[in-house]
Amino acid sequence: MDHYVISGGKRLEGVVPISGSKNAALAIVAAAMLLDGPCRIENLPQVRDIHLLLNICRGIGATITEEKPGTVTIDATTINTWEATDPIVSSLRGSYYLMGALLGRFGKAKTSMPGGCNFGNRPIDLHLKGFAALGASNDVTYGHVNLDCDSLKGGSVFLDQVSVGATVNIMLAASKAEGLTVIDNAAREPHIVDLANFLNTMGADIRGAGTDVIRVNGKRTLPARKDYMIIPDQIEAGTYMFMAPLTRGDITVTNVIPKHMEPLTAKLQEMGSTVEEGEDSIRVRHDKGTRLVGTSFKTMPYPGYPTDLQPQATCLLCFAEGGGRMIENVWENRFQYVDELKKMGASILIAGRLAVVQNAVLTGASVRCDDLRAGAAMVMAGLGALGETHVYEIIRIERGYENFIGKLTAIGADIRRVSDHPA
Ligand code: EPZ
Repeated sequence: MDHYVISGGKRLEGVVPISGSKNAALAIVAAAMLLDGPCRIENLPQVRDIHLLLNICRGIGATITEEKPGTVTIDATTINTWEATDPIVSSLRGSYYLMGALLGRFGKAKTSMPGGCNFGNRPIDLHLKGFAALGASNDVTYGHVNLDCDSLKGGSVFLDQVSVGATVNIMLAASKAEGLTVIDNAAREPHIVDLANFLNTMGADIRGAGTDVIRVNGKRTLPARKDYMIIPDQIEAGTYMFMAPLTRGDITVTNVIPKHMEPLTAKLQEMGSTVEEGEDSIRVRHDKGTRLVGTSFKTMPYPGYPTDLQPQATCLLCFAEGGGRMIENVWENRFQYVDELKKMGASILIAGRLAVVQNAVLTGASVRCDDLRAGAAMVMAGLGALGETHVYEIIRIERGYENFIGKLTAIGADIRRVSDHPA
């Protein structure tokens, strides 16, 4: 396994082009499995999770041709099974969208239980509740989820808790169910809207995405034969935006939707950064002489501050005058990476879902990536620390950040990937 070596203390300056949204792409590739004709998708991020999902889809018979990196044509009419039980299915979370897609296509599905980042309990009860409202029975046996129904019929679902995954899965199955499905207390994330736009482009009838009530009028066929471009990655953009105050730098992220970044831009301004929004770009500057002021964050479903930018913000607070507080409202156990930051000298107290962060001087150490976003936070810590940091288990970072090393070195970071097994 390779690892990253980072020499801290470099000021980062320049432009970072943002890739397509990983979490939108996962939902949209799965949605393509519902279609009754080919579709062409652009701006797929070149990251491990997307490659894995495309391979899983090939494995069940979908015909996928890559025109160029990031642009594929997917034809799901060649799918020959409703079973997705290959071991790789359980190696990523996004594969659970095949439950909704295969149920919508065949009226039945058998998939492996999903994997993904470990933030404590990650139940799928709300997904199953949604499928049940459409008439599908479920059981979980031998690590597989089995879904079955005589005919998929629209129904009403109230999500007890806002869930991105359950909202996506119900939208997928409902797109092919007979009649109207209403999802109440639905997630409002940008990738929910992107999924609805994709499915509507391909012939579905979904209204209200982006609000907490989504209505899906099921269609017998989704003719497809259209092109679609995936939205930019809000979390990737946010990760680079944080690096400007971290390194007292000047970073412009391009190909972004500034509206999606509002929960973050407000916080950066509170911390003393200057944020300038363009039509599809955001420039974040933090001059050397300007104080980096601590603040408090609270993660919430969109349009609140995103949990997927929680570890990065907690890391930044270590460098801020007065430190700050982080409240994690979405996941029960998303502070595991804090022990790694402590190896670098961070002073962080965890009490349940609260982290109290004190300002500290971080110094290079050998640290591990506990998960994708925690891995990004480790790299940030290394960029801001004194000396050399070695970041291990980087495969987790590469699940979701396209060309991480390339984009960082282009703005002046001293980071390289080294092999742990020299030839
Ligand atoms: C999605 O996960 C994202 N993953 C996560 O991003 C992100 O952290 C999360 O949404 C929240 O924004 C993908 O899009 C692939 P949820 P998901 O269902 O859908 C509870 C990243 O770094 N819940 O919105 O799995 C759950 O325990 C990844 O890119 C239930 O109780 O998250 C959690 O507390 C990591 N029952 C809350 O809802 C259920 O059936 C939100 O989870 C489902 C969820």
